[in-house]
Amino acid sequence: MAKRIAVMTTGGDACGMNSAIRSVVRTAISQGIDVYGVEEGLHGLLNNRLIPMDLSSVGGIINRGGTILKTVRSKDFHDKSIRSTAYLNLEAAKIDGIVSIGGDGSRKGMYTITKETGIPSVFVPASIDNDVSGTDITIGFDTAVNVALDAVDKIRDTAASHERIFIVEVMGREHGFLALEVGLTGGAEIILIPELKEEMNVEKMANLLNSGIKRGKKSSIIVMAEGVGPSADLADKIEKATGMETRLTVLGYIQRGGTPTAYSRKLGLVFGYEAVMALKGLKRGESRMTAISSGSVKIHDTKDFVNRQKKIDMKLYKMNSVFSL
Ligand code: F6P
Repeated sequence: MAKRIAVMTTGGDACGMNSAIRSVVRTAISQGIDVYGVEEGLHGLLNNRLIPMDLSSVGGIINRGGTILKTVRSKDFHDKSIRSTAYLNLEAAKIDGIVSIGGDGSRKGMYTITKETGIPSVFVPASIDNDVSGTDITIGFDTAVNVALDAVDKIRDTAASHERIFIVEVMGREHGFLALEVGLTGGAEIILIPELKEEMNVEKMANLLNSGIKRGKKSSIIVMAEGVGPSADLADKIEKATGMETRLTVLGYIQRGGTPTAYSRKLGLVFGYEAVMALKGLKRGESRMTAISSGSVKIHDTKDFVNRQKKIDMKLYKMNSVFSL
């Protein structure tokens, strides 16, 4: 059984990470396990940034976005010889279990650490992109959706008042889960996602928008993920093809921060608790991940999902073309 574990956040920050850190620290202490926080994720592991955590070190953070442990996208970690420094640091600190909170890349990193060192680990999915296979939802996704949705609702006021088309670019370099959710719930006429790049066809979009205009539509919203392609001159092209004033708003990093929603906090708390409880029973070389599947919490073997891509719900995507008629 683990006696001294480390907890870290890696990859892009996501609202609810703090909630998960709080949960991991307090659950571990309740089980008689020592906890160290690794500052700056994998980068911090290389630089021996391990700090002892106690009950009060995670006080007053449940409502805060970002991560008190900080996070860095570490390129160095891809180099095996550099990774060995991190492993020496873990050994020196007598760490015998790790909880890693982050996105898909973080899962790969954590899986590699366990394979190379034998230290058991549990990965906790947290990403605004929701692009982690094996779980229906990641910590932070719900908050990001609601932040973006609030922005779309506000933009809609101007779209209606000025009778304009608006393109709203949301995050998602590789996947369109966020764009789909925001577009669907924001009532967008068109949703553009990296999985369906062919939909970024000005003529096709203009035909759809023009048929709405003919029926008397005075404004329209296009939600696009950043990974679809350059958005800079898209507004001009749409304006020329429809004759309607068109503007672009790039939401950017406001989607990553803010006050975590109740759901993002709860997911952090439940995942953190389950991660520590699962870690207690793991043997050397084993890695697991927490997940939500069909509404209930699951613990999966990481190896079953680490190389799997999460798929966009095409039914939901197609459904939106009915709503936006
Ligand atoms: O963490 C996910 C994400 O927000 C992506 O949607 C986005 O493309 C990327 O991070 C931006 O990353 P960075 O923080 O490295 O600019």
